[in-house]
Amino acid sequence: MPFLASFSCLWCGTAHKVRSPDDLEGWAQLCPDCVGKAGDNGFLRFRLRQALTERSAAATSGEVESEAPPVAVDALATPALGAATRQPMAASPPAEAGSPNAAIDAERSMVDYYEARAPEYDDWYLRRGRYARGAIHDAAWHAELDSAGRWLDGLNWRGEIVELAAGTGWWSPLLASRGELSLYDASPAALDRARERLVAHDLRAHLHVRDAWAEPDRAVDGLFLGFWLSHVPRARLGEFLALARRWLKPDGRLAFIDSLPDPASSAADHPEPANDLSLRRLADGREFTIVKVFYTPDELADALGQAGFKDVEATTTGRFFLTVSARAP
Ligand SMILES: C[S@@+](CC[C@H](N)C(=O)[O-])C[C@H]1O[C@@H](n2cnc3c(N)ncnc32)[C@H](O)[C@@H]1O
Repeated sequence: MPFLASFSCLWCGTAHKVRSPDDLEGWAQLCPDCVGKAGDNGFLRFRLRQALTERSAAATSGEVESEAPPVAVDALATPALGAATRQPMAASPPAEAGSPNAAIDAERSMVDYYEARAPEYDDWYLRRGRYARGAIHDAAWHAELDSAGRWLDGLNWRGEIVELAAGTGWWSPLLASRGELSLYDASPAALDRARERLVAHDLRAHLHVRDAWAEPDRAVDGLFLGFWLSHVPRARLGEFLALARRWLKPDGRLAFIDSLPDPASSAADHPEPANDLSLRRLADGREFTIVKVFYTPDELADALGQAGFKDVEATTTGRFFLTVSARAP
């Protein structure tokens, strides 16, 4: 991201002016308070790491970035909010599958990966380019995607709904048409696409950059997670479901859609996932190793029961997708 002398903090929205052109705050676009909290927060740590890299790259090259509009993600999705300009992000080195820190590295790598993948993310849903896997597989994919959408639409959403790790907002118009939706993601580039999608549907929602692991600041009526739980390492599943429970009011609705392991589900040039990790390539050849856990419906039903959820229903659409719903106690 470019250096900005004045900006609204990406995390808390507070307006801030830097004191000098090499202030880290201006590179991270975080206010000093949020910079101070980076030790406990994955997203803030990620922004600071990026900011340090970008500041030292600019110092080495002697380049001065031109000021660009701030990333206006902490606002309602209205056509007035234009897309922010950003610099391409550097790829993280792939984690070694056998190394003890592979899962931790892969969790960190995910934000970089999805930020870089945002412009091509929807190719996966739409079976375009490297994701086109032949007419028969693609027809099955589209039929199951429709079926997952109908399932989501059939749940009785109401009131305030939160969508964590919402990405480019594939499911957000459906949710925004059913309640007051807040959608969060760590990737500003993904949220830009989500905003465009909502605007195209003439729908409103609150879009904020936010770590999916951040403690809830309120309790809401519904929580939706699309293809996020498969990015939660096995060792952290209980921790995440406890956090999901804290997001919900009593009887609040939890629902998620996620991946089943199928060779035709990913791009043609992606190797088979192994050890709960997956090597991903972007169209330009950059590679990232990310967490990808294929939980079974039974595993998830057990974990949700242990986390105290009730009315748990975990099923599949056949080959490609898991659909799971539950209620907070
Ligand atoms: C597989 S995509 C799912 C996007 C969307 N929910 C969907 O169903 O299409 C995973 C998303 O998680 C986001 N993400 C990764 N790590 C995150 C974190 N720690 N906090 C918030 N979002 C994160 C990525 O930016 C990406 O948009």
